[in-house]
Amino acid sequence: MSSSNSAYIRYTRFVLVFVFVVIAAGGIVRMTQSGMGCPDWPRCFGSWIPPTDASQLPADYEKYLRQQDIDHTFNAQHTWTEYINRLLGALLGIWILIHVIWSYRKFIKTKPVIFWLSFLLLLATGIQGWLGKRIVDANLAVVKITTHMLVALVIAIVPVIILRKLKAITPVQDKGTKWLALITLLLLLVQIVLGTEVREQIDEISRSLNYLQRELWIGRLDFFFTLHKAFAWVAAIGCVALFWRALPHKELAGLGAWTFVVVLLTLLLGLGMNYLNVPAIAQPLHLLSSSLLFVLVYALLLRVK
Ligand code: HEM
Repeated sequence: MSSSNSAYIRYTRFVLVFVFVVIAAGGIVRMTQSGMGCPDWPRCFGSWIPPTDASQLPADYEKYLRQQDIDHTFNAQHTWTEYINRLLGALLGIWILIHVIWSYRKFIKTKPVIFWLSFLLLLATGIQGWLGKRIVDANLAVVKITTHMLVALVIAIVPVIILRKLKAITPVQDKGTKWLALITLLLLLVQIVLGTEVREQIDEISRSLNYLQRELWIGRLDFFFTLHKAFAWVAAIGCVALFWRALPHKELAGLGAWTFVVVLLTLLLGLGMNYLNVPAIAQPLHLLSSSLLFVLVYALLLRVK
């Protein structure tokens, strides 16, 4: 690996980590009910740097507050949490733009596929930003949250594909493990889509209870939650079996072990929400761990032939 290649690889890894920072920030926004802290988009209360105090609000600020359901008075903490989340999203966009330019200059002649993957990353991030705006416009309307999650997964796996293409590791020849990884990935995808449905229900239930009385939330979930709980074990068995099959191969053992740890963590967080009245902190962590799990299994899949 040339030294400039290793700088590019380090940068791609940085972008990958930053994607997870942005996913975590989104989860924290929701945990703190700051989603509508900026009722308009891309600006916030009509300006690029939002107010820190009600006295700085524009004269017509009520028109903004009317668009949202949580704060009926100005809440600086909500506004700034959402604003920092947007800044992190914008920063990610800039990092990715740099990635595209770097990929173009470095690989367009020798390995154009790397450039196109990087371009796909930019495109997916653009779509995500647009979806973000639509979610704000529609006051967090439901179906789009699932799309938002699926696009986030695409954004997270593209850097993994790029890294795989640049590393000269011979894939492990093991058809059984390849199939197992593929099936586990599909199971996880179904489980994640079911999860976003549960999340949408929690959004509605919590809103109807003014984000209080957490002890009532779980009991009000419908059949989708039963499905999500049951399917969790199917997906988890896939992950554990994958860990077991990965162990003997030194190229796969690390990813396999992480898959094992992260699936346990995801299950524990899910069970924690189920039995401990949905602790707020468990919500972004469950989202983060399930996205990480998906990326780990995908990375493992790419290493087997
Ligand atoms: C492999 C296992 C699991 C995966 C991959 C998974 C994945 C997910 C995902 C992606 C979400 C949506 C998060 C969001 O959009 O913020 C979610 C939500 C949820 N899941 Fe799971 N889940 C798993 C297991 C479980 C288990 C075992 C339980 C409970 C016994 C559970 C309970 C919940 C609850 C209560 C929500 C709503 C969380 C919220 O409001 O933020 N999950 N899950």
